[in-house]
Amino acid sequence: MTDGISSVLKEDRKFHPSKAFTDHARLSSRMAYDSLYRKSIEEPEEFWRDETRDLHFREPFKTFSEWNLPKAKFFEGAKLNVSESCLDRHLTTSARTRAAIIWEGEPGEVRTLTYFELHREVVRLAAAMADLGIKPGDRVAIYLGMVPEAAIAMLACARLGATHSVVFGGFSSEALRDRINDCGAKLLLTQDGAWRRGSVIPLKKMADVALEKTPSIENVIVLTRIGAQKAPLEMKAGRDHHWHEIIRKDHSEDAKKRSQHPDAFDAEHPLFILYTSGSTGKPKGLLHTSAGYLAGVHVTSKYIFDLKEGDLYWCTADVGWVTGHSYIVYGPLSCGASCFMYEGAPNFPNPSRMWRLIEKHGVTIFYTAPTAIRAFMRWGDEHVQKHDLSSLRLMGSVGEPINPEAWVWYHKTIGGDRCPIVDTWWQTETGSIMLSTLPGACYSKPGSTGLPLFGVDIDVVDDRGAPAKAGEGGKLVIKKPWPSMARTIYGDEQRFFDTYWKPLENMYFTGDGARRDEDGYFWVVGRIDDVLNVAGHRIGTAEIESALVSHPSVAEAAAVGRPDDLKGQALVVFVTLKDSHKADETLKKQIAEHIDREIGKFARPDEIRFANALPKTRSGKIMRRLLKEIAAGAVELKGDTSTLEDFNAVAALRSDEE
Ligand code: WT7
Repeated sequence: MTDGISSVLKEDRKFHPSKAFTDHARLSSRMAYDSLYRKSIEEPEEFWRDETRDLHFREPFKTFSEWNLPKAKFFEGAKLNVSESCLDRHLTTSARTRAAIIWEGEPGEVRTLTYFELHREVVRLAAAMADLGIKPGDRVAIYLGMVPEAAIAMLACARLGATHSVVFGGFSSEALRDRINDCGAKLLLTQDGAWRRGSVIPLKKMADVALEKTPSIENVIVLTRIGAQKAPLEMKAGRDHHWHEIIRKDHSEDAKKRSQHPDAFDAEHPLFILYTSGSTGKPKGLLHTSAGYLAGVHVTSKYIFDLKEGDLYWCTADVGWVTGHSYIVYGPLSCGASCFMYEGAPNFPNPSRMWRLIEKHGVTIFYTAPTAIRAFMRWGDEHVQKHDLSSLRLMGSVGEPINPEAWVWYHKTIGGDRCPIVDTWWQTETGSIMLSTLPGACYSKPGSTGLPLFGVDIDVVDDRGAPAKAGEGGKLVIKKPWPSMARTIYGDEQRFFDTYWKPLENMYFTGDGARRDEDGYFWVVGRIDDVLNVAGHRIGTAEIESALVSHPSVAEAAAVGRPDDLKGQALVVFVTLKDSHKADETLKKQIAEHIDREIGKFARPDEIRFANALPKTRSGKIMRRLLKEIAAGAVELKGDTSTLEDFNAVAALRSDEE
């Protein structure tokens, strides 16, 4: 459980926000946070009534919540169209002509969409989708890169009441196909290609492979981002439509009505499905619904990122992950924020790119991941120092534990010792941030994710569910449902219950280990289940193993994490081969390419090790703990380990301890 680098360096200094920050912060004292938090727990109905006032509910809610685990409902009685809170409500204020999205492509072109323009594009796309037969509740798959159209597509789905399922552009054709089939999507939105480090990722071509085996897909809308010279398209007549053509068609009266004056839906109407890894080979499609999710991301965006008019907020996540959903699209747009969005790689054409972007556009709030921060550190301070980062006033971190050394570097070198850092803990399942410091109200401690957010009853408990003492390690749990939580795993209610609500009776189990210190600050250590966090990407070991054994040469496989200075965890796989296959470099390469195909390049193992046999307990369980120690170099293997490893000797030293 102390995997990763979080345990290497402890830092117990407290960093207080400066007076300059606090003077203008939405919440500017610990007392203000405490009293708002108390209200959110003791009088939740009133708290949420106040905090959702800004949102556009066509009918107010009658009851705040009702649950019978694992089922929970929030804001019953409310009627809303989520896209109206993100778009229409800004059209009657000064936000109308404010930038909603300022986007820079990897090659360097810039596009700005005001709230007026974003609304117009969403209405156009929604009308086109309505004419393709998209109805409330239909599933729509989105396989796009980092372009404004990703936000447009999500909001157009919300407008029609369709459920989007965004599949990260780094996933392979196979992964896309499985996700489309799991939710039975009728429509796919994709693009010709996406720029990444100067080359083109041919998304439509990859989608075409998936589309050979996705019977539910009736139509495909294809955005031209790159152009025919570098990303030639094969359009299938009757199925594939050019984005720019289809939005300009003469739409039916019904489509015009449903896009311009959209329907309002119930609070629990599904908003999106997002797949994430768990401890079996099959990814889970977490289902989020409307009012509770929107309320959660709205409130957290407003207070944690302290969003105000004049800010330019940049979250570097990809829209394909939950961070992109909640903190590029729904959260900040529901606050009327101006969001910066960048298409490409952080080190293209050189390691200064991010800092150049901050300087050029005047970014004020910057939210990124520890793995990126560690890469920036490694690339060297000279790339930062060339740029004027004085526009920054607040910075954030998300996705994995941040080691204090990286935190302190981030604070000093990027933030000029001036910007508070919010270390935000949350998950695909939680929908919105559950733990963080409030930047103007609380001090930060490097490596700590701070305090609970509003309405979040979170704790550290032992194996039996009893609260752990201050400073003692245990399991991180949330003791009662909260508005933005996922409502189910799409099509698998039982798994939803078994995974989250069964391990510790009547509490939500996060899968993370943590401790809470004397000040009430939380320290999240990392996953304690079979899920790895590799460079901020969540990867299930079972998913990797099932992909490995589907290769014709592989008999058995075990995937484990090894602490890594840059990625937090690196992925190491141990493989035994079927007879007649030779353990050599060529086969290693083939196996690596097989993972690229089955899941995506981001899941490619950092190390592939061949073994004679995997070490097992007498009852036949793979000794994962031993493999982890071996992967980390903590256990010496005797004999020649250059090609085939023989674990039997070491395994024999350990009895059935696992
Ligand atoms: C897992 C969730 C939620 C955004 C991106 C990841 C780890 C996330 C932190 C943090 C320590 C963190 C946890 C969690 N995690 N944020 N600030 N400090 N660990 O979403 O893919 O659903 O992964 O990421 O282990 O369970 P996700």
